Amino acid sequence: MTEKATLHLNGNDYELDVVVGTEGEVGIDTLKLRANTKAITLDPGYGNTGSCTSAITFIDGENGVLHYRGYPIAQLAEKVSFEEVAYMIVWGELPTQAQLDAFKVQLDEQAMLPTGIYDLIKTFPRDAHPMGMTQAVCAALESYSAPDADTNTHIISFIAKFKAITAALYRHAKGEPIIYPTSGLSYAGDFLKMMYARPGNDYEIDTAVEAAMNKLLILHVDHEQNCSASTVRMVGSSQASLYASISAGVGALWGPLHGGANQRVLEMLDSIKNDDDRTTADYVAMAKDRDSGFRLMGFGHRVYKNYDPRARILKAATDEVLNKLGVKDPLLSIAKELEQAALEDDYFVQRKLFPNVDFYSGIIYRALGIPVNMFTVMFALGRLPGWIAQWKELSDDPKARIYRPRQIYIGETKRDVPAIGERG
Ligand code: ACO
Repeated sequence: MTEKATLHLNGNDYELDVVVGTEGEVGIDTLKLRANTKAITLDPGYGNTGSCTSAITFIDGENGVLHYRGYPIAQLAEKVSFEEVAYMIVWGELPTQAQLDAFKVQLDEQAMLPTGIYDLIKTFPRDAHPMGMTQAVCAALESYSAPDADTNTHIISFIAKFKAITAALYRHAKGEPIIYPTSGLSYAGDFLKMMYARPGNDYEIDTAVEAAMNKLLILHVDHEQNCSASTVRMVGSSQASLYASISAGVGALWGPLHGGANQRVLEMLDSIKNDDDRTTADYVAMAKDRDSGFRLMGFGHRVYKNYDPRARILKAATDEVLNKLGVKDPLLSIAKELEQAALEDDYFVQRKLFPNVDFYSGIIYRALGIPVNMFTVMFALGRLPGWIAQWKELSDDPKARIYRPRQIYIGETKRDVPAIGERG
């Protein structure tokens, strides 16, 4: 690419390189900006800042497009297993049959948690939020990992164990005995068995539920440089371990503006259902009123200015799963009514606010029997391979540097420390 951008600053012209991605995305390379001009870019919230080049996920937010490694999300959700997507997102290509078989054997071999991790889980208060426990367990896994194992071994072990961690946290919260992993099942199927089997009893995996879980996991696998992926990269950039980096990513995901929104959506729909005084339209009006402090959870996105393709797939899947399971959830009709009202409202139309991935996922999780406070852990379960891919891409990059943004200081200029009696 020979194109350059010119910056006119303090009477001088500076030439900046322009970087163009394979899908035509354009970035102005400011790597040498400060060295050459003494100025930095100021972009709170990073809405215009590319922190890296990446070959993992492509999003065209204006047109509602999402590809993992070039493959459209709708094709992946329809045609392949979570294991295949996890393999591809981490190592770049969909596995051959032989590679997939070997990967599944490795996942089975690594699925059991160390006794110390099961013991740790049992020490948590049963009513503690599972995201806090997940974060702690991810960090603690490092203490039980082989220090001299290679990166791929750590990666496979982490993916293999995360379903056992999620299920163990669920059963611990319910005060039920923990079920260990079973070999030879799909990732989704083994997870469901560890969640719902009764000790000593055969557990028959419902293929419709297994397929729905598989789809949910795939839809959450990666989403380029969002808050949690960037956190994983940020921590990883100091050459902190995979475990430390993922644990930090779990913390970032927890917030209600990010993955925590799925829990908030369900709570919001529930309060609308139980509110005898206000209608759906009143809630839409509240969301438009800045002073109300209320936002339509599961709506809006930094990157999508069109319908989030994951939400489109999930909306259809919600109908399908609820029908198959014979579940009638009044929250689904409230969600659809809310969506319809918002999509016809000027406020949402002008700001291009559409349902995001979290808007419908909770209704499916609920139909599958997953408690509301576990929803964000379910997001993390799907997202783990994506975080790993982001961490690995950074770790494998010989040009990677520690993430260290700058700031424009707006505090006091230099002053002398007064004696204590002269303060205030
Ligand atoms: N309800 C009502 N108004 C909204 C909403 C919403 N859900 N989202 C954005 N807006 C409004 C803002 O008030 C703002 O209005 P203004 O221009 O009059 O000031 C405008 O739309 C732009 O919103 P920002 O907050 O500036 O957008 P930003 O890109 O910073 O935030 C975010 C994106 C955090 C997702 C936001 O839309 C939001 O809070 N949504 C609800 C929470 C949510 O669903 N999060 C999950 C996101 S998906 C994910 O992380 C997995």
